[in-house]
Amino acid sequence: MNIKLPRGTQDLLPGVTENWQYVEGKLKDLSNRYNYKEIRTPIFEHTELFQRGVGDTTDIVQKEMYTFQDRGDRSLTLRPEGTASVVRAFVEHKLFGLPNQPTKLFYFGPMFRYERPQQGRMRQFVQFGVEALGSADPAVDAEVIALAMSGYQELGLRSLKLVINSLGDSESRMEHRNALINHFTPVKEELCGDCQSRLEKNPMRILDCKKDREHPAMSTAPSILEYLNDESREYFQKVQKHLDNMGISYVVDQNLVRGLDYYNHTAFEIMSDAEGFGAITTLSGGGRYNGLVESLGGPETPGIGFAMSIERLLMALEAEKITLPTDESVDCYFVSLGDKAKDEAVRLTYELRKAGIQVDKDYQDKKFKAQFKAADRLNAKFVMVLGEDELDKNIVSVKDMETGEQTEVSISDFITYMKNKLRKGNDHV
Ligand code: HAM
Repeated sequence: MNIKLPRGTQDLLPGVTENWQYVEGKLKDLSNRYNYKEIRTPIFEHTELFQRGVGDTTDIVQKEMYTFQDRGDRSLTLRPEGTASVVRAFVEHKLFGLPNQPTKLFYFGPMFRYERPQQGRMRQFVQFGVEALGSADPAVDAEVIALAMSGYQELGLRSLKLVINSLGDSESRMEHRNALINHFTPVKEELCGDCQSRLEKNPMRILDCKKDREHPAMSTAPSILEYLNDESREYFQKVQKHLDNMGISYVVDQNLVRGLDYYNHTAFEIMSDAEGFGAITTLSGGGRYNGLVESLGGPETPGIGFAMSIERLLMALEAEKITLPTDESVDCYFVSLGDKAKDEAVRLTYELRKAGIQVDKDYQDKKFKAQFKAADRLNAKFVMVLGEDELDKNIVSVKDMETGEQTEVSISDFITYMKNKLRKGNDHV
């Protein structure tokens, strides 16, 4: 039987993994500049964490979780997102007690959602995300948005659209909720089954429904922005002011509600409007979640964050025809001929690697010419030749492939010579 990979997952092979490493490196560097520290949490958690954290009425919890009983009969779930886990860890390890607040964290890792797979929608995907816990300063909202935008821009993306909204505080949301119930109740029977049940449980989610998008009641639905109380309105204005001062352009979209229940105040998404990007245009999403820490058993702590999938980021780079400067070449390739020379090449290859030099050699008993071809294919900067003649003279012949210059180097000086040539001081010997 031919076993294939599960639907909605992918294998990342050499040639592609270089792009992933490059992007991850850039995003780690960015997080470091913003002083966010890495956190790694388990890939599975108690199911209850997501039920309470992400919210019982969300699509994620209702339809998309990979939930299983373990052998001890516990209900566990492969994490569908990172925020709930980060907040759990924040509470569990009492990070709120550390002297430097807010606690600023970033993470990379696979997330799992049982969705209908399509371009840009996977069942296993990798998120990069950040969470800032412990400050209700609108400048932190702007910082998180700036970090997200910079991540894309520094990789070369141009066709970006930042959409922001405010979901207000609980008082504003309650007012808005009542207005939505009044608005949609007369047309309840015309809405899809999901929206009918959302009407009581979480009417705001109706605004995000894909099935009822064209219903006339959608465009006339009361906007959250009309229901913001003074404090929420002021907060949102300050966030916008910071973005203006930073020169980050955005549009306010009052229908942006996000698919997770923990949000309040600032919500945002970054879209790609690159031609040919595909039907799903959201690159990343995030927002403020004051209240989540308490609901997971911690002290009152405001929080904000965002997450992006690396899959969609790479799709956007492709749509904008951006090639990443990844290097698939090797520094050196050892060409050897004759049994004795081959044995010596094995030893010298080992010594070079210990000295911090990237080197490969033939392991298929190839002819001299074919070994040179392999070196060419690998784009080797230097080809080192060791045959019977060289061995007799106790030298290695080193060819600089860029200049074509060929030098005979005595075996005793060889490692130092190569180190100097490649200017790598990474000596492990
Ligand atoms: P989310 O909007 O559910 O938010 O997901 C954030 C990002 O993850 C999306 O914008 C998209 O890039 C990526 N994503 C989601 N589902 C898939 C999928 N099936 N395939 C590929 N990529 C996907 C969250 O997860 C929140 N935890 C974000 C957050 C952090 N909010 C505050 N802090």
